[in-house]
Order: sequence, then structure tokens, then C-alpha cells
Amino acid sequence: MRFDILTLFPDMFPGYLSQSILNKSIERGLVEIHVHNMRDWAEGRHHKIDDTPYGGGPGMILMVEPVVNCVRDVQAMTSEPGTVIVTTPRGQRLDQPLVEELAVNKRMILLCGRYEGFDQRVIDILKPLEVSIGDYILNGGEVASMVLVDSLVRMVPGVLGDEQSSWDDSFSRGNRMLEYPQYTRPREFEGESVPEILLSGNHGKIELWRQAKSLEITKKRRSDLLED
Ligand code: ADE
Repeated sequence: MRFDILTLFPDMFPGYLSQSILNKSIERGLVEIHVHNMRDWAEGRHHKIDDTPYGGGPGMILMVEPVVNCVRDVQAMTSEPGTVIVTTPRGQRLDQPLVEELAVNKRMILLCGRYEGFDQRVIDILKPLEVSIGDYILNGGEVASMVLVDSLVRMVPGVLGDEQSSWDDSFSRGNRMLEYPQYTRPREFEGESVPEILLSGNHGKIELWRQAKSLEITKKRRSDLLED
């Protein structure tokens, strides 16, 4: 799976990209991530990439020409043009079914917005998929792009050591419920003990207990997940 991240703030990415699962997946050749500075496609001595909105209003708008040129040049870097995705609060809300849909893509070009957003013609010309990571406003699309990358690389076969673990996660294909509680040593801490059943060695009973706990916490916190 290859990602090309188009941003005005490329320095936000190295720290995130060097973290363990992602870094290992990159080293093992399972995932490729290329970060491009959109400003490099802006013309003139000052590499101007934004301008004031027609009609007035606050903030600055990312200009259509450098952004469209940047996307087209980056698409042409490989034979597979990839799916263009814009991270924006106006987009389709990201959830695990959407992550699973997107995970079929071999290549994704992630466009990170800043300021008041893109000139609408960027959207009209490139027809990207617009994705929001939730109903709140971030300072830009970079963190949202990291969320997308983070959720998608987990779907690449071989990225997680134990294939079963992404399957068991809350919201994954095998499970649309919240995850059951987990424990590790010590058996007791400040009067709080590990449930006896988990020490029983009876795997059938443990599985049933976990299913019941998943259902209980999902009913309590996210009954909407049980609607279908
Ligand atoms: N950019 C700013 N806010 C965002 C959000 N909630 N989701 C995706 N991109 C964004």
C-alpha cells in the first residue's frame, strides 16, 4: 500500500512515521509513504499557495493551480494514479467499514487542507473522495491524514504480527462491538482483582465471558452499533 501525502507542513510527519508498527511496515516493504510539500508547486519567488476568498470573509484559500498541478505530478510518479482523498470536516465520516472499503486501494494520494480550505475547483476538477475523521474542526488535514494512514496500514496483510488481533478489535469485520476488558499481571492491585474466569484455563467459558462483556459495554455506551 502506497500513500502520497500532500501538505504544506511536511515536518509534521517524520515523528509519526518513525513509530514502531508503521516504521517496521515501511522497512519490510509492506507500506510506502511519500510526503510532498505542495508549496514546491507554487509559482514565483515567494511560492504563493494561498489567497484571500472572492466575496470576502476570513482566512486564506489554497489556490487551485498549484494544488491541481501537484496532484497530477505526484500521480504521474508511478503507473498507478491512485485514489485521491481530501481530509476535510465536510467529508464522509470515517468509520471501520469505510477503512475496510479504502483498504482495497494499492495507492492513495492524501490532500491535507489548511487555512479555510481549498478553492472549490480543486474538488470539482479532481473529484477526490472527501473524508472527515469526526464532527470537530482540526487546524488542518495533517492529523486527519495520519489517522487515515494509521487505520489503513493495519489492514495490510502482514503488518500486524498476529492477524487475529485486527480481526478482534472493536469495529473490525469480525466484530462490530466494543472490545471486552483485558488484564495482565498482577492478579490483584489496590484491592482490584482479575476476574476468576480468566484464570480458569477454560477457553470456551472465557470466550463466552468476553462476548457477554463486549455486549454489555456496547449496550451501555454505543447502543447505536447494535441497531443492525
Ligand atoms: N480538517 C479539519 N478538520 C477535519 C476533520 N474533522 N476531519 C478531516 N479533516 C479535517
